[in-house]
Amino acid sequence: MRKILIFALSFMLLAGCGKKSDRKEPSSTTSTSEAQDQQLLAEASDILIQTFSNDLRSELLAALNEGGPANAITVCEIRAPEIAAAHSGEFWTVRRVTDRSRNPENAASDAEKGLLARFRDTAQSPPEYIIGWAPSEEGKTYRHYRPIRVAQLCLKCHGRPDDIDDAAEAVLAEKYPSDRAIGYAEGDLRGMFVVELHWPEGKAFVDSLVAASKETEIK
Ligand code: HEC
Repeated sequence: MRKILIFALSFMLLAGCGKKSDRKEPSSTTSTSEAQDQQLLAEASDILIQTFSNDLRSELLAALNEGGPANAITVCEIRAPEIAAAHSGEFWTVRRVTDRSRNPENAASDAEKGLLARFRDTAQSPPEYIIGWAPSEEGKTYRHYRPIRVAQLCLKCHGRPDDIDDAAEAVLAEKYPSDRAIGYAEGDLRGMFVVELHWPEGKAFVDSLVAASKETEIK
C-alpha cells in the first residue's frame, strides 16, 4: 500500500497517515487552501527530486561508460554536490542524506535518522514519502523526504567487496578513508532526498515548476 506520512517537525508529532489519494482531501484540522498548498508543494518537490535524480544518474552512467567505476567516483565526488547546488535556490534546497555516509557532509541529523528508520521499517509498510512543516523566521518551512533505494547499478560502488572492482576500491579508500557506504544489497535503503522550501517565499518557484511540468506533459 502506498502511504505518505505528515508530521509537524516542531514537535515530531505524527499527525496523519494515509494513502496517496488522501492528499487531495483536507482533513478537519487543515483548511482547503492549506491542503491545496500542501498538494502543490508535494508535486513540486517530486519534480525537483526527479530532475535532480535524473541529472545525477545520467552523469553517473556517462562516467561509467567512459572510464568504469574508478573514473565515475571522481565524477560523483565533484558533480553530486554541484548538481545539488544547481537545483537549489534562494528559498529552497534539495540534498541527499544517509545514516551510512561516504561523504560525511551527507550525514543525516538525528531527526532525519528517525525518518530513515521509518522508511526502513518493513514491518509497518514504509510510506511512499514523508512531509513536515516547521516554523521559520519569515513564515514556515516545508520539508519533503523520499527514500533512495539501492539498484543493481549502485553496487559497483556501494555493494559488497565482491561487487566492487579493485581499481574502484583503491580510489574509494584513498578519497573516503571513513567510508561507511559499502556493503549494501539491491533494494536496501541507501538514504533519502530532502527538499526544504520556505513558504510562502518559494511560492513563485513552486508555481513555475508545476506549470512547466504540465506544459511538458501536454507536448
Ligand atoms: C561510480 C561509483 C558510484 C556509483 C555507481 C554510485 N555511487 Fe553513490 N556515491 C559515490 C561517491 C563517490 C559518493 C560521494 C559523493 C560526495 O563526495 O559527495 C556517493 C554518494 C552517494 C550518496 C550520498 C550519501 C553519502 O554516502 O555520501 C547517495 C545517497 C548515493 N551515493 C546513492 C547512490 C545510488 C542510489 C546509486 C545507484 C543509483 C549510486 N549511489 C551509485 C559513488 C557511486
